[in-house]
Amino acid sequence: MKALLEALQPGEQDWVLAQAIDPARLPAHIAIIMDGNGRWAGRRLMPRVAGHKAGITPVRISVETCARLGVKVLTLYAFSVENWKRPRHEVETLWRLLRFYLNQELPDLQKNDIRLQAIGRLEALPAPVRRELDAAVEATANNRGLLVNLAINYGGRAEIVDAVNSILEMARLDGSVHSLKLDEELIATNLYTASCPDPDLLIRTSGEMRISNFLLWQIAYSELYVTETLWPDFTRTDLLQAVLEYQKRDRRYGGLSAAAADARAEAALFEVLPSRSR
Ligand code: FPP
Repeated sequence: MKALLEALQPGEQDWVLAQAIDPARLPAHIAIIMDGNGRWAGRRLMPRVAGHKAGITPVRISVETCARLGVKVLTLYAFSVENWKRPRHEVETLWRLLRFYLNQELPDLQKNDIRLQAIGRLEALPAPVRRELDAAVEATANNRGLLVNLAINYGGRAEIVDAVNSILEMARLDGSVHSLKLDEELIATNLYTASCPDPDLLIRTSGEMRISNFLLWQIAYSELYVTETLWPDFTRTDLLQAVLEYQKRDRRYGGLSAAAADARAEAALFEVLPSRSR
């Protein structure tokens, strides 16, 4: 948080927003569905891929802002298992942009102690993309600041299937398959995101009210924030506004809010006290 304020001019809009954020209640994990690149380009009579290219700047801004805020994990939905259905030229451009981003950002990621991780069915990526991705992940493996998960060839259902299959495989290997019993912890610890807390805040740009097969297991209790802003237009201001909105939410996890729980406890106490002491 301090690092963010240091990067801002006192009095400017983002400084005012950052001042309003409670550092004790930051989301530990923010996940983003980066949507609207195609529409952004279409509105400018540009090819769709121009929207993807323009989408790199907000990726950089989001990574930097989360790192400066002190968020622990940022997960970005860069390519879904369904995105292969897009025209070949668009898919190839997305790979080119990913390689460009990795090459360009690696020095900054290192300088800022940011660790990169890739989640998804990575074995299906074109070999040069996979090589560069693995190299960037390896190069940043010992960094201890923000963890950035790039979800690539990612699907939430595929992830759960992969988790169950790897549990089955391990049980076959150690001969325990007949007595195997699944539980939530076993599945969670075999997801691609096993090392991360679940997202506290899920942001989706471009106004679409869909989850699109993203982190289906992990978002069970995430707070959702949908903004009309198209991804290429997403700024630090948008991110800070999302965090502020998150801090207004009353997270109950199916239970009671802190205030309601206090009121109930007080009422219960009132019931058990002898009438003399009321
Ligand atoms: C969805 O917008 C966006 C994607 C499928 C790709 C996201 C990729 C980037 C932001 C490029 C850079 C990313 C990294 C990690 C370097 P859409 O094309 O579905 O938009 P539309 O709904 O308006 O058509």
